[in-house]
Amino acid sequence: MTPGAEPVPRQRTAPAERRDRGVAASLARRGWLWRQIPAHSPLTPGAVWRAAVQTLVRQEDARPRVARLLRALYPAREAMLLGSGTQALELAIGIASRVVGEPAVVALPAFSCYDVAAAAVGAGVGIALYDVDPWTLAPDLESVTATLAEGARVIVVAPLFGVPIDWDAIEQCLRGFGALAIEDAAQGHGALWRGAPVGSAGALSVLSFGRGKGWTGGRGGALLMRRFPLDGGIGGSRAPGPFDELAALGTAVAQCVLGRPAVYRLPAALPFVHLGETRFHPPTEPRRMTRAAAALLERTLPLATQEAAARRVNAEAMLARLPPDSRARAVTPPRAGTPGFLRLPLRIPGGLAGFAEPLRARRLGVAPGYPTTLAALGAVRERLTRPHGRWPGAEELVRGLVTLPTHSLVSAAERDEMLRLLE
Ligand SMILES: Cc1ncc(COP(=O)(O)O)c(C=O)c1O
Repeated sequence: MTPGAEPVPRQRTAPAERRDRGVAASLARRGWLWRQIPAHSPLTPGAVWRAAVQTLVRQEDARPRVARLLRALYPAREAMLLGSGTQALELAIGIASRVVGEPAVVALPAFSCYDVAAAAVGAGVGIALYDVDPWTLAPDLESVTATLAEGARVIVVAPLFGVPIDWDAIEQCLRGFGALAIEDAAQGHGALWRGAPVGSAGALSVLSFGRGKGWTGGRGGALLMRRFPLDGGIGGSRAPGPFDELAALGTAVAQCVLGRPAVYRLPAALPFVHLGETRFHPPTEPRRMTRAAAALLERTLPLATQEAAARRVNAEAMLARLPPDSRARAVTPPRAGTPGFLRLPLRIPGGLAGFAEPLRARRLGVAPGYPTTLAALGAVRERLTRPHGRWPGAEELVRGLVTLPTHSLVSAAERDEMLRLLE
């Protein structure tokens, strides 16, 4: 199309209009509490009940088995189970900083989940931000090189929404500087890089099993080590007690009950729950994973594996139906990567406001990307090596990135409706 020319409106065909009427009627039938959930982490009441019996009645500890399972799934020398992905990342940053020596400056993506920043703040290190390529969501390699040249020796690489990152390119970029990459695979469940699960590539890799992740234990995280021994990381901290076990099971029950489209509008409307909002949570002291979360992880793995396959099919179906002249731009994964599509990221001029009916799009589970770059967070600014830097790729993503739900609870009619609102 000629730059500046208006797109020619497509002629609506009778079947298309019939389909739209059908979609509108099916949405109206769902009731006022209905709102599509942005991400679905499979967790059944049966799994929670059995995990509760296993943990509270039989006093069984599934953690050694889960650690072995993780070492096998994501080939690693050691696996440490922690209270959350943020805690695992905080420990990873601490360990990597000790390995590379002073000064401890960690390079983080300027566009990412705020928890990535919380982990660096918790580790007490200086922060350098690198830019993110809006076409691939991968690190902008020139910008990474600049942060390394300026002194960062540890870099956190976080594949977003399950889009893998070209790990060979990252390693090549780091080689000359003797720097270390931490792979934050919190959003990577179901994604592959060179045929291996995302989370298998870094010298240290981090997993999250929290709400909205591909594989959940209610809450929890893991730190996988490949090259270095764990140096007692959280040795001194308090082990989870009965109250922590109950809290973990309570969180899992809440996820089962409220994480359903039929009722999700209710918790999403409660301002103090902050569901679906991106907020900065100050770091907490790293703790070991609860036995309840480990018991849940054992039970939810088969469901999570099925769910990842469903997400891929749904995301690919939506991508295949994006017209060539669509205003939406898909993200390009690297050739040797298979996305896990925790959500489907698209860039649209104006972001969520670029949808025909933004409120309706939200109700269908469409969500804006992260609302600011990490540079806008007060706790990050205090530690930034270059407070006046610009990260144009990240800023572009803040303005235009939206993500669509891909999980198995999204119906074909809802996918049609999201695509219609895009056109
Ligand atoms: C990229 C990334 N890293 C780390 C985390 C933190 O994981 P957790 O919620 O288990 O603390 C998240 C959580 O959303 C994330 O998206």
